[in-house]
Amino acid sequence: MHRAIQSDRPPSRRDFFKEILAGIISGILGLVPLGAGLVVLLDPLRRRASESGAVRVASLEAVPADGIPRKFPVLATRVDAWNKYNHVPIGAVYLRRTADGKLLALNVVCPHAGCFVDFLPDSGHFHCPCHNSTFAVTGKIDDPHSPAARGMDTLEAEVRNGKDIWVKFQNFQAGRAEKVPVA
Ligand code: FES
Repeated sequence: MHRAIQSDRPPSRRDFFKEILAGIISGILGLVPLGAGLVVLLDPLRRRASESGAVRVASLEAVPADGIPRKFPVLATRVDAWNKYNHVPIGAVYLRRTADGKLLALNVVCPHAGCFVDFLPDSGHFHCPCHNSTFAVTGKIDDPHSPAARGMDTLEAEVRNGKDIWVKFQNFQAGRAEKVPVA
């Protein structure tokens, strides 16, 4: 028969500090998943912040100053709880430069119901294949019978360092007469 061996030794100072240390370590270990959970919870906010900032879309020389729109993908950096992804596609824009130095950026998404708008070089107009909205080269509604309630969405764009075009990319709610940013 085995008998449990019990120590009659009174708790020492060393035991006391060991217990304190164990408590601190388990507290820290408990905070790690809490922190990771908060990061995941806040992730949409972080993503939105990176999507709403200006991103470099093209070089200036990639858009000749002939008034013809050119289409470019918009690539941005995405960050989640554990990873950072570079060059993730978040949309596309038409960029247009005119001979008098004007720069125009238009979201390619149709403001009627969200299809992608084509530019037709032969007619010099934008056309949406879904419900036949047409837009002038400036993005304004071209045909009064177009179902779109507003023109194509313009975006803030600027030339930096004399050679790069940066666009503040944003999507807007479809089907409304006014531009309302998608949250
Ligand atoms: S989605 Fe473009 S016209 Fe309807």
